[in-house]
Amino acid sequence: MAEPILRTCGISRDFGDFRAVDNVSLAIHPGTITGLIGPNGAGKTTLFNVLTGMLKPTSGTVQLDGQDITGFSPDALFSLGLGRTFQIPRPFAKMSVLENVMLSPMAQVGERLWGPFFQSARMREQETAIRKRANEVLDFVTLAPLADQAAGQISGGQMKLLELARILMGEPKLILLDEPAAGVNPTLTKLLIEKIEELNRDGKTFVIIEHDMDFVMQHCDPVIALAEGKVMFEGTAEDAQNNPVLLDAYLGAQVE
Ligand SMILES: Nc1ncnc2c1ncn2[C@@H]1O[C@H](COP(=O)(O)OP(=O)(O)O)[C@@H](O)[C@H]1O
Ligand SMILES: [Mg+2]
Repeated sequence: MAEPILRTCGISRDFGDFRAVDNVSLAIHPGTITGLIGPNGAGKTTLFNVLTGMLKPTSGTVQLDGQDITGFSPDALFSLGLGRTFQIPRPFAKMSVLENVMLSPMAQVGERLWGPFFQSARMREQETAIRKRANEVLDFVTLAPLADQAAGQISGGQMKLLELARILMGEPKLILLDEPAAGVNPTLTKLLIEKIEELNRDGKTFVIIEHDMDFVMQHCDPVIALAEGKVMFEGTAEDAQNNPVLLDAYLGAQVE
């Protein structure tokens, strides 16, 4: 099998005396859509926060394409091709949908490297390029008709598509989605799945936290289950479906 795109070795994360993520070692293989499941409070979002540099691990290491990225900032990880969405989208509510996409950290990396006092002509040139790319990305996620609307006024499902658009402003090779289908109507969920599968066919790797087991079983393989911060299952979607412990303890008890 190809080298993993992402590997964690013994990741733990404590909050005070409480260990939210406990010695998690896993490998994500390129080209897969991995489902990360487990009851509320299992440590899924905390693990994402560690993987994306929002939180430092208490112990353990993370590698992206064989490079040790433990403790790297989210911006540094964005530019290395690691994109993530949040469980609860947080767009700039008063700005337009288009502006939100243009303000993606992934679009801004080059600008920041140029420094604040760059000649205005180059700035304008870059803004034009970013605007063009943002429009293309909005078109891809089907939000182009809403480009000029205030981001605070679009639906929850449309906000999830907006988050995906923001990530796609860079060249992400690994995309982490935190509960993309939660609170999203079936039509938009279907659309989101189509987009994920299209991007996946295009070579992008996904890790998706999701409570909706139909979603996980139909679209994710392999499946990793966390409980109380630990990996308690790792296998194919089919094995997950037939695993009695998992079924009883975690899949049956629909959470939230
Ligand atoms: N910043 C924090 N400070 C203290 N405890 C936290 C913090 N973030 C998460 N936790 C706790 O860590 C545990 C795991 O949370 P989380 O990773 O959000 O779980 P999940 O995403 O699987 O529902 C929960 O008990 C939660 O209350
Ligand atoms: Mg969570």
